[in-house]
Amino acid sequence: MNTAYRLDDVRHCYGDRCVVDVPALEIATGEILAIIGPSGAGKSTLLRLLDFLESPTDGAITYAGDVVDGDVPLAIRRDVTTVFQRPMLLRRSVAANVRIGRKLRGLDTKGGDTERWLERLGLTELADAPARTLSAGEAQRVAFARALIVEPSVLLLDEPTGNLDPYNVGLLEDIVRAENADRGTTVVLVTHDEFQARRIANRTALMASGSIVELADTEAFFTAPEDPRTAAFLEGDLLY
Ligand SMILES: Nc1ncnc2c1ncn2[C@@H]1O[C@H](COP(=O)(O)OP(=O)(O)OP(=O)(O)O)[C@@H](O)[C@H]1O
Ligand SMILES: [Mg+2]
Repeated sequence: MNTAYRLDDVRHCYGDRCVVDVPALEIATGEILAIIGPSGAGKSTLLRLLDFLESPTDGAITYAGDVVDGDVPLAIRRDVTTVFQRPMLLRRSVAANVRIGRKLRGLDTKGGDTERWLERLGLTELADAPARTLSAGEAQRVAFARALIVEPSVLLLDEPTGNLDPYNVGLLEDIVRAENADRGTTVVLVTHDEFQARRIANRTALMASGSIVELADTEAFFTAPEDPRTAAFLEGDLLY
């Protein structure tokens, strides 16, 4: 297994409160890893660490074999893209918001890429619309197109389908699967939708109170969880 990420004794704390505490975690290159867990568990914080937007308070994050700390090399920054839980769009057109993903990375912005991604996400008719007028689900699809257009090696998704109708949920899941299969994109997907994890993830993890409670192949995770807290969570009990 080629390793995209390795976390060793990673903790991330605000004051004396540590919201992420992961002694060991490996994420394989080309896998789809789902992370589920209660609100406030530290899922989004973990994604911010994986995107190198924040440095852990303690411990080491290794990316593609190199420990990353302090100044993150541009090449690594450009390898990883996040679709945030609450995406921010620029006060420009939908097409400009999609194109900006490539511009910010110094990639060629000419050619049919923007049109192709708008089409894949059913946004062609909205290409010239001001982004601020979009519905939540439309904005989510624009953020997704903006992330995918840079063809990242790692795609971090923070509840990317929370505002979408079932048709568009399926559309996004198909695209994630296709990018993973065709380009070997590594995907870390935070979701509150257990069925989504079951549909697309190779492995699934439960995170609670900053810790990874259980991490297993998706099928085993859902059908034969080993940790009683996983079983409880899947049955709808509140976890702390
Ligand atoms: N900048 C910050 N300063 C202080 N506390 C923070 C900060 N960012 C996050 N936290 C706290 O860290 C904890 C984990 O937050 P995080 O956003 O990672 O949770 P989450 O698992 O993504 O939750 P949700 O499912 O609601 O999105 C929360 O209790 C949050 O209040
Ligand atoms: Mg979150």
